[in-house]
Order: sequence, then C-alpha cells, then structure tokens
Amino acid sequence: MTGIQVLGGRVAVVTGASGGIGRVVARALAEAGADVGLLARRKDALDETAGLVAGLGRRAAVAPCDVTDEDQVREAVAAVAAELGDPDIVVNNAGGARFVSDLEHMKLSGWDKTVNLNLRAPLALAKAALPGMIRRGGGSVITIGSIVGEQALTGLSHYATAKSALEMLNRSMAREWGRHGVRCNLVVPGLVDSGAHDHYAGDPAMEALYSKEIPLGRWARPEEIAAPVVFLASDSASYITGASLLVDGGTVA
Ligand SMILES: NC(=O)c1ccc[n+]([C@@H]2O[C@H](COP(=O)([O-])OP(=O)(O)OC[C@H]3O[C@@H](n4cnc5c(N)ncnc54)[C@H](OP(=O)(O)O)[C@@H]3O)[C@@H](O)[C@H]2O)c1
Repeated sequence: MTGIQVLGGRVAVVTGASGGIGRVVARALAEAGADVGLLARRKDALDETAGLVAGLGRRAAVAPCDVTDEDQVREAVAAVAAELGDPDIVVNNAGGARFVSDLEHMKLSGWDKTVNLNLRAPLALAKAALPGMIRRGGGSVITIGSIVGEQALTGLSHYATAKSALEMLNRSMAREWGRHGVRCNLVVPGLVDSGAHDHYAGDPAMEALYSKEIPLGRWARPEEIAAPVVFLASDSASYITGASLLVDGGTVA
C-alpha cells in the first residue's frame, strides 16, 4: 500500500473502469484507501483492473454492465453494495464519442446513443447510488465532462451537447442533494492520452480539436485526471459542490 489513505473506509464505484482514464481513476482511489466497484461491459478487462486494486491491498467488486441500461446499472450498484457496502463515492467516467458527423448528416439514432452514454447514464448511476449515500450520511458524485462541452466543434455536436448538459445536470444534483450531504462535481479534461483517440488518427474533423493550443504544451496523462477525482472525493473538498474543475493544461484559457 502506498500514499496517504485519505479515502480509508470509503467505497467507490467507477464506470468505464475497464481501461483508459477509468482504470487509472480506480487505481488512484484504491491507492487512497477506498474499496472500488468496477463497472463497464468487458468483464475480462474489469478483472485486470480488479487485480490492480487487489495489488494495492484494497477490495474490488467487478460488476459488468451496460451503463445505458438503467436496470443493469441498478443491479450493478446492488451487487457492489452487497460485496463492499454502500458506495459513497460515484465516478461517472464512462463516455466518449464513437463517430464524427456534421449535424446535417447526423443520424439521430447515433445522437441518441451518444447522449444516453454521456448524459443519461451518469444520472442513472447517481440515482441508483443515492439511497446508499443517504444511508451513509453523505457522499461524493464526480462526473467526467470534456472541454468539447465548452465550445462547439464541427463533427462532435452530439458529444459536445451531452458534455455541456452534464454541467447543468451536475449543478442540479448538487442543488437538490446537498441537503443529504451529497456533493456533486464535474472534472473537465482537455485532451488526455488514454488511447481513446487512436481510432481517430487521420480524421480531418478531429484536427480542429487536436490543433488547439495547449499552454502547458502537451496532453494530460490519465493520472492527472485521477488526482483531482481523488481530491474531490476526499474530505479536503468538503465544501466544494456544484463546481466544474477544468483540467485542461490551460486550453480553454
Ligand atoms: N481521452 C480524452 O482525451 C478525453 C478528454 C475529455 C474527456 N474525456 C472523457 O473521459 C472519460 C473516459 O475517457 P477515456 O479516454 O478513458 O475513454 P475510453 O478509453 O474510450 O474508455 C471508455 C470507457 O467507457 C466504457 N464504456 C463505454 N461505453 C459503455 C457502456 N455503454 N457501458 C459501460 N461502459 C461503457 C468502456 O468500457 P467497455 O468497452 O468495457 O464497456 C471504457 O472503459 C469519458 O467520459 C470521456 O468523454 C476523455
């Protein structure tokens, strides 16, 4: 075990924990002392993340599910609670854009899938975990947004619209659930070297995003997104709710 156990005795659930940023977030939460429920569709990959958590001396519960299916999300949270106890840290990380299209040619079925994954699923998970957080006397919901939600970008309107709306969902949850001691915050990354961009290599519509000037001169490492997640989950952030924290190397500035 390494580091200060600022999350000792806490139980987290992380979506998209099968790879990318989510796996690194799960590891960082475990490093900080939390037991971690791991949600995503690919069980084998979740088992690998569980191995990382166990290697840090923390317990992991693997709960494969499609986060766009409300019933599966509810069952996954119940399975994690049965194994580890009620989660009091919820990390809505699963998300992304699976295609690029301008609005004129956008299929609304693709729009729906993107909005369901990036906007509806975080609400489904937070709602499923809320009764448990109330039983525990409070909790922390952390949702991963994107700077693409800050400025319209040709080809990514489906993703940008969902990520932008997450900001208001986050503030709404913060306003309504503060009385339960549940804090809700958004982490808003710029470009992150998570492997998710590999299938966009050479896509001209993505060049506008990739060519944005980054004052710090590089993409983020996933660990640099995980660190503010751990902070927001911890008591060091006990008076922070309804906030959006840009973690973008200054891109939006
Ligand atoms: N990478 C970036 O530059 C960047 C920048 C800003 C914001 N973000 C945001 O950061 C978050 C993580 O991104 P990433 O780069 O780590 O992406 P990624 O490598 O593509 O990982 C996405 C994760 O979400 C899971 N997922 C996707 N659809 C799912 C579904 N229907 N049900 C359950 N799990 C699902 C995937 O697991 P399974 O395939 O196993 O289901 C995977 O673990 C996303 O919200 C993304 O929008 C990323």
